[in-house]
Amino acid sequence: MSGITIVGSGRYLPGDPISNDDLARVMDTSDEWIRQRTGIERRHFCPDGQGASDLAVPAARLALESAGRTAADVDYILFNTMTPDHILPGSGPLFGAKLGCPGTPALDIRTQCAAMIYSFQLADALLKTDSIRSVLVVGAEAHAGFMPWRDWGALEGSERAEPRDYERATRHRDFAVIFGDGAGALLLERSSTAGKGLLSVDVHSDGRYVDELAIPAGFRRRPYATSAMAEDGDFIPRMNGREVFRHAVSKLPQTVRVACDRAGVTLGEVDWFIAHQANDRINRLVRERLGVPAEKVPSNIANYGNTSAATIPILVDEMRRDGRLQAGQLVCFLALGAGLHWGAAVMRL
Ligand code: ACO
Repeated sequence: MSGITIVGSGRYLPGDPISNDDLARVMDTSDEWIRQRTGIERRHFCPDGQGASDLAVPAARLALESAGRTAADVDYILFNTMTPDHILPGSGPLFGAKLGCPGTPALDIRTQCAAMIYSFQLADALLKTDSIRSVLVVGAEAHAGFMPWRDWGALEGSERAEPRDYERATRHRDFAVIFGDGAGALLLERSSTAGKGLLSVDVHSDGRYVDELAIPAGFRRRPYATSAMAEDGDFIPRMNGREVFRHAVSKLPQTVRVACDRAGVTLGEVDWFIAHQANDRINRLVRERLGVPAEKVPSNIANYGNTSAATIPILVDEMRRDGRLQAGQLVCFLALGAGLHWGAAVMRL
């Protein structure tokens, strides 16, 4: 496998950051607990009335601009989100229209936090065809819509939420403190430089663990939405945090080793391990298990929380813009998310 490389990147975070202390006004949590257990200090939330496709547009514009391309150059869109604008259809076509390239094929990818790893593999296959020269991969999430509090005024103001709302949100506090909204975009093209590009991918999915992290509502129910379901919180994620954590710290080191073996590189040769940011403790344990130094595993979770499919492209954009990512470096990407889906990819920049 070879050839695809990142030629442009962009990111977009909506609104002002919401601190851990702000969250403590709408549920029983604290800055100390969130920092210690996750490393998160603040996150952003998508405004009411906007969706993943809206967050993706400014990120994609920056990605195109940084590559010296326009929307007309995009041959294919891979739209990664677990929080689409509509239940039906996916956000990809809507995003393409908003970006200014209606008619461009757009595929929604539903592999949650692992979506970027799957997208590298798909983009690589797409870019081997003659008619496709540029694939725009976008990760965008508007988790705000499933947050368990109703009183956004309390979050953004200074009063505590009403007791009933506060108690309801507290029942979901484990997942609610880790997610944040945002978008990242990468423009991928084929490289003509020998040895550059995607060297390997290792991906897995296992539906036996679907209940560890899922939104219970869905089309297996008749009707698929009722007010009783809303009352029961069936549109809010249920997460068995400890189990997801356990899967992440065992499966991620394994998939990194496989991807590196497949690429014919040692762990020591890798310049950066760009990991999904669900919890800083997960990434610390993964790197300890791999024997990788901390300075090779960048973290930005303090500022954004877990932005699901947007995380890896946001982090890549930060590192490209501040000069940490350089041509010729070897990067291993790794992620695990709901599904479960997980995997790793090795790329020579
Ligand atoms: N604030 C305060 N206390 C809390 C909170 C909170 N937000 N959440 C849980 N607690 C309490 C619990 O009630 C429990 O109290 P108890 O001991 O009195 O019963 C205690 O803290 C410990 O709870 P745990 O659930 O064991 O906490 P843990 O250390 O496991 O942290 C967390 C929870 C942060 C969710 C962690 O399990 C985690 O990060 N899991 C992985 C998440 C993940 O990777 N998700 C997948 C990616 S996302 C995707 O794919 C969409």
